[in-house]
Amino acid sequence: MPNNVTVVDHPLVLHKLTLMRDKHCPSAVFRQLLREISLLLAYEVLRDLPMTTQTIETPLVEMEAPILKGKKLVLVSILRAGNGLLDGMLDLVPSARVGHIGLYRDPATLAAVEYYLKLPDSLGERRVIAVDPMLATGNSVSAALDRLKQAGATNISFMCLLAAPEGIEALGKSHPDVKVFTAAIDSHLNDHGYILPGLGDAGDRMFGTK
Ligand code: URA
Repeated sequence: MPNNVTVVDHPLVLHKLTLMRDKHCPSAVFRQLLREISLLLAYEVLRDLPMTTQTIETPLVEMEAPILKGKKLVLVSILRAGNGLLDGMLDLVPSARVGHIGLYRDPATLAAVEYYLKLPDSLGERRVIAVDPMLATGNSVSAALDRLKQAGATNISFMCLLAAPEGIEALGKSHPDVKVFTAAIDSHLNDHGYILPGLGDAGDRMFGTK
């Protein structure tokens, strides 16, 4: 496995992922599980956040206590399925700034087509975490990372739920500086660019569309 990829294979993550993969899992449960997994993934993604100390008074004494340092984080949801990971992350880091990149996959070419972009300022001075549950061909994630870098981002991680080896390889070539965090790496893509065994279309599973 490339050293820019971390598989967060905590038992709770794997258990929840199995429940989500099951085709009988209802949308409401799927969304709740995605929210819970995103908290557990984010815990790993944010493990190396820079810290400083601050003088505080406990009820007993004064102490130098650790506290986060630097500008607020930026979370970037790759629409629409990215929003499912965003909600859990915002539970954990409520003060984060949030950007959105709208991309859809052209069904014929599987290429990423941009339809929306709204990003916070000072991206170059902030840690940026892009989120999308599925790293399949890597086309849309790669296009989103291109746009973030054009907007000035230099410190980017990508967090997903499931990755295909093809997507990991593509991202390793197009954005080798970006650290990838995933709950699992599946077998391969089918002819339509879906991850196998996978969980189907994450957006449809979340929102009950087809
Ligand atoms: N996007 C999805 O939602 N599912 C896949 O399997 C691949 C891309």
